[in-house]
Amino acid sequence: MSEKANIGVIGMAVMGSNLARNLAHHGNTVAVFNRSYGRTETLMKDHGTEGKFIPAKTLEEFVASLSVPRTAIIMVKAGAPTEATINALADVMEPGDIIVDGGNTYFKDTIRREKAIRARGLHYVGCGVSGGEEGALNGPSMMPGGTAESWKTLGPILESIAAKAPEDGAPCVTHIGENGAGHFVKMVHNGIEYADMQLISESYDLLRRGLGLTPSEIGDIFAEWNKGELDSYLVEITEEVLHHTDAKTGKPFLDIVVDHAGMKGTGTWTVQTALSLAVPVTGIAEAVFARGLSSRSEQRDEAASKTLPGVTPHIDVADREAFIEDVRKALYASKIIAYAQGFDEITEGAKEYDWDINLGDVARIWRAGCIIRAKFLNRISDAYDSGKMTSSLVFDPYFTKSLGDAQDSWRRVVSAAALGGVPIPAFSSSLSYYDGLRSDRLPAALVQGQRDFFGAHTYGRVDEPGVFHTLWGEEGRKEIKEDDSAAYTA
Ligand code: 6PG
Repeated sequence: MSEKANIGVIGMAVMGSNLARNLAHHGNTVAVFNRSYGRTETLMKDHGTEGKFIPAKTLEEFVASLSVPRTAIIMVKAGAPTEATINALADVMEPGDIIVDGGNTYFKDTIRREKAIRARGLHYVGCGVSGGEEGALNGPSMMPGGTAESWKTLGPILESIAAKAPEDGAPCVTHIGENGAGHFVKMVHNGIEYADMQLISESYDLLRRGLGLTPSEIGDIFAEWNKGELDSYLVEITEEVLHHTDAKTGKPFLDIVVDHAGMKGTGTWTVQTALSLAVPVTGIAEAVFARGLSSRSEQRDEAASKTLPGVTPHIDVADREAFIEDVRKALYASKIIAYAQGFDEITEGAKEYDWDINLGDVARIWRAGCIIRAKFLNRISDAYDSGKMTSSLVFDPYFTKSLGDAQDSWRRVVSAAALGGVPIPAFSSSLSYYDGLRSDRLPAALVQGQRDFFGAHTYGRVDEPGVFHTLWGEEGRKEIKEDDSAAYTA
């Protein structure tokens, strides 16, 4: 009998073919299938000698070439194409087989599909794959959900191709939790990615329009920053983008790029989900809104033609070097807040959807391969591993100290930007979040008073348990106790 493949990949666009090659490079025998055979042929022609591939012309042939339990990773466009492929695959697979969706699928779709596929006796694994094309080929970070049983087969295969953390060589993949847990964590990863990119871009703007530095000079600054606590993939590629010159015009590359940021939806899902879980992910939300504002062409064109009143963006500082250091520290502090908020969302999501997610492991598998890989993720995994984590990363001694060390800089940057007309929504909302968290009294008490005034929505008292309402329309504004329940719930 001819050799069977221990893993299959469906979808031979760049991500799929790179993942298939990565699997083959690590000793797996890989069945490959694409709806149109041309792409499969191209893979075989260009890379067929890199390892053991079994090309298939039909889905039936593909499934027949897999060893049991048959395991297939789908790398096709999220949405309808993925759905169609899952259904077609489930029709030709057998109970015990494993279907893996490696796309950026919305986690609620994954929960729904997992249930439907499990009812047919098959395993369905929603698996977040991060790292782009390069990661797929040389080592991505992966976030699989699904059953623990499917992980027994899938685990060693994914471990063979995952990025290895530089600190200890550990593969950047772990079983995140049941059903949609993997896609949920990947969604939050992307939300953090948005926040991190926005914070870096705001730092650039402060130095460019604020201080008047050139992209290349700012590139040099990012190169320096990448040697310290900001050491990360996103800071590293920022340096490269800033140093790049457009071949056609000789201008800085950044100056020839249309300043409308695109998005495919994962950041939006992160914020929508956070809203439904009542978790403030202010940094991520501002990042999504900033992309939205950048693409509001009609309004931006009108603003440009009418000149809204304001100052010409500038930063007034006596000591430019000191301000650059302030921006670095403000970036680090805001970044800590963005990650803390993202981990809060995972914590709440795990409660809501009944997932047992090890947050230390999540931080660990983000140390390499993924877009938000950063040195300080070690600190995050240490914090979760310490067994002393309380309700937020900001209370971990290392992060509390980092936020404390940065905060004078953070405040100087936010106020200088406000005075100088440089928009920094993610920086300022992160600082406001931090100050909100620190406040012993919040103006939410006034909101409660207003709610009770116009809608009799009731309030709690600081000095007595129970639920209260004031008869605002009556003479003397008498207070009545509506409920004796010990805890007031809004
Ligand atoms: C990754 C990325 C990737 C995502 C892109 C584009 O982890 O490799 O998150 O999955 O698709 O970053 O996202 P936007 O188009 O929404 O910016």
